Amino acid sequence: MTTSAEYLQSMFGLDGQTAVVIGGTGVLGGAFCEALGGAGAHVLVVGRTLKTDEATGNTVVDRINAGPGSAEFFKADSTSRADLEAIVAHLKEQGRECNVLINGAGVNSATPFFEIDDEEWERIVNINLRGVRLACQVFGKDMVERGTKGSIINIASLSGITALSRVFTYSATKAAVINLTQNLAREFAQYGIRVNALSPGFFPAEQNRKVLTPDRVESIRRHTPTSRVQGDDPRSPFGVPSELAGAILLMASSNAGSFLTGENIVVDGGFTAMTI
Ligand SMILES: NC(=O)c1ccc[n+]([C@@H]2O[C@H](COP(=O)([O-])OP(=O)(O)OC[C@H]3O[C@@H](n4cnc5c(N)ncnc54)[C@H](O)[C@@H]3O)[C@@H](O)[C@H]2O)c1
Repeated sequence: MTTSAEYLQSMFGLDGQTAVVIGGTGVLGGAFCEALGGAGAHVLVVGRTLKTDEATGNTVVDRINAGPGSAEFFKADSTSRADLEAIVAHLKEQGRECNVLINGAGVNSATPFFEIDDEEWERIVNINLRGVRLACQVFGKDMVERGTKGSIINIASLSGITALSRVFTYSATKAAVINLTQNLAREFAQYGIRVNALSPGFFPAEQNRKVLTPDRVESIRRHTPTSRVQGDDPRSPFGVPSELAGAILLMASSNAGSFLTGENIVVDGGFTAMTI
């Protein structure tokens, strides 16, 4: 007779596994790290070389180390192949291999369409799309060579499946991430590696701070059937980062998620279901 705790552990437990969360220093990335650490994984919280990233990353590390998992911060830029290879080498030195990779680095902008220049387009594409491709190559190759039946989770966005105003470049990169995810799911299935995407709806974070103007928040509210009490707001349309934990653990788990690949899980409080 198994207890419910044993059942959940067997389905979602990540004891003995290593997770690499690129952009783990972000608002959502930190929540992904805590979910994986809470399920028992060793988590590499990866952030750029910014001072604030390191401080935020270490806060996440401390929280995870106080629970069932373990964690460490690792400085790396997701757009640098050498940095990504350094993560793989670091894990190797520790006798670890990456079982779960989350590509969660992302940047946004709210530039009107006719004002988007090449510099902005290339900067956003470089981080949101090229960085995901690089990490899938570097970690995917390592998983294939070691025979690791891993899970890759690419963070897309609801803006990748429906045309959101004002975030043109961002939306285009996220649509491409969803497409790349499906393509890699097919390609990597022969190695036992699953590749899925997570598309969050609206969660206040650093990258969308400037986009969430009062009129836009009102519009999001009208399109979010689950708007509810949150802090001082009686009808907040926003998600809370921990509300992404369930989807992350399902995709990460080689047991509960064993037949799940090429999927894009949308967690948006019903935004995309709201028509008339
Ligand atoms: N917040 C939302 O509402 C929302 C909605 C949909 C999708 N997303 C996606 O979720 C992911 C996490 O974003 P967030 O909302 O937590 O934003 P955030 O700005 O809080 O975090 C993004 C993190 O990525 C890091 N980062 C940026 N460029 C990097 C690089 N080159 N190398 C390494 N790290 C880098 C940043 O330093 C930051 O810590 C992003 O891919 C974002 O596009 C967010």
